Amino acid sequence: MTRVLSVTSECAPLVKTGGLADVAGALPGALAGEGVEMRTLLPGYPAVLGALKDGQAIGASEDLFGGPARLIAGRAEGLDLLVLDAPHLYDRAQGIYLGPDGKDWPDNPERFAALCQCAAQLAAGRLGDWRPDLVHCHDWQAGLAPYYLRRDGLRTPSVLTIHNIAFQGLAPMARADDLGIAASDLTADKLEYWGQISALKAGLVHADHLTTVSPTYARDLMTPEFGMGLDGVLRDRRDRLSGILNGIDLSVWSPGTDPHIRPYTTPRGKAVNRSALRAELGLPEASGPLCVVVSRLTGQKGLDLLLDALPVLLGRGGQLALLGSGDPALEAGFAAIEHPDVAVRIGYDEALSHRMIAGGDAVLVPSRFEPCGLTQLYGLRYGTVPLVALTGGLADTVIPATPATMARQVATGLQFHPVTADALANALAHLCDLFEHPKLWSKMQRNAMAHPVDWAPSAAAYAALYETLVAAAR
Ligand code: ADP
Ligand code: GLC
Repeated sequence: MTRVLSVTSECAPLVKTGGLADVAGALPGALAGEGVEMRTLLPGYPAVLGALKDGQAIGASEDLFGGPARLIAGRAEGLDLLVLDAPHLYDRAQGIYLGPDGKDWPDNPERFAALCQCAAQLAAGRLGDWRPDLVHCHDWQAGLAPYYLRRDGLRTPSVLTIHNIAFQGLAPMARADDLGIAASDLTADKLEYWGQISALKAGLVHADHLTTVSPTYARDLMTPEFGMGLDGVLRDRRDRLSGILNGIDLSVWSPGTDPHIRPYTTPRGKAVNRSALRAELGLPEASGPLCVVVSRLTGQKGLDLLLDALPVLLGRGGQLALLGSGDPALEAGFAAIEHPDVAVRIGYDEALSHRMIAGGDAVLVPSRFEPCGLTQLYGLRYGTVPLVALTGGLADTVIPATPATMARQVATGLQFHPVTADALANALAHLCDLFEHPKLWSKMQRNAMAHPVDWAPSAAAYAALYETLVAAAR
């Protein structure tokens, strides 16, 4: 058994803002069959502490960044958790990252540095009797952990997974001392990023291995177009960077067993879900495809392009149902659409997201960049044809309808490039064309549903990576 500590700022179903939570929540189960015992270190947000069962304090500090803290080991939702209970850092209403003003909490650097310090203490064997063989860090919030491991002279190897390089965990240099960062490490080859400290860069430089969540995004990241200023750091470490595709948790996302929908195992079963969704959202029956979007509303997701391309879909008798929240301008843009064939729900609603994926004919993911993307994978699984931008993990998971793939009857969805409103409009027109040919359409749906989206191959890849790193550290 390899003991792995997963360090993450969110974990489904306990606390979630995006796909990171789904991945962190699914990994322990997916890896259990691979000889990996994974425990997850999470901040003690109220939702996490509230769900914790059989919690036992295994360590305490009187002053962790300005207040008392305890580390509690326990279980919740089938996960083995280590929860950092530090009310002054995590007991807050509103979001886990953003305050009431919609901006990052000013003490975010300390909030997540605390989590990383705790990871290093666990690796050192100073907290309880479970000591990890390896630390697996997710995104910038866990980025300082590999740095602290090195700082403290620990040999425990670390992996940092980049889920989204757009978030880099910047802090003013003046905070270095408080964060336990040596002045001598504030250099361009280590933690400094354009005059600030970057927690993500700390991880990129100090982790033993870097992964990201699709092979194409691993290549994308090394280019100026997608590297967001860190492409050079990644090029320097290219022999230590791999892309391991996300899977989805089939115990949560399977149309045959999904408690939120009327279960089905063939595309035919979608009709009743589509009617129910239309009824729920107040959409009439229609001749064209019902397209759904379930997404954070941010520039990354390219949904501003959809605002421009939408008339093409509606002109062909199609419909749009969107569930999302985020950028106020995008929320307002969608909320302002007054059209009988458009239904917009601003907010976050897990159950509705299942009904939308099950009831839609197609799921739209027009992202400008997408490390992996999960909703197109749900779409595949549910026979809800994905229409995606040709980028990152979207490129790796959807077999686009082209004359060649249609002739061989292997297409699972549609892809467009470049990521512009015009190209999206053309793809929507193509979608409507295909939808008018029930045989072609249902073949695509069946191909989609048969496409493997489970965790098995990627869990094996992570397990092999852990094993290599642990063996090398011995
Ligand atoms: P990202 O992590 O960049 O947001 P992903 O596609 O990897 O993108 O994951 C997004 C996850 O969040 C999916 O599980 C999706 O269903 C979910 N999600 C996004 N927005 C909403 C929403 N408004 N309501 C419910 N679930 C949502
Ligand atoms: C990020 C990415 C998304 C990915 C998810 C889980 O939030 O934006 O593409 O699927 O992390 O890895």
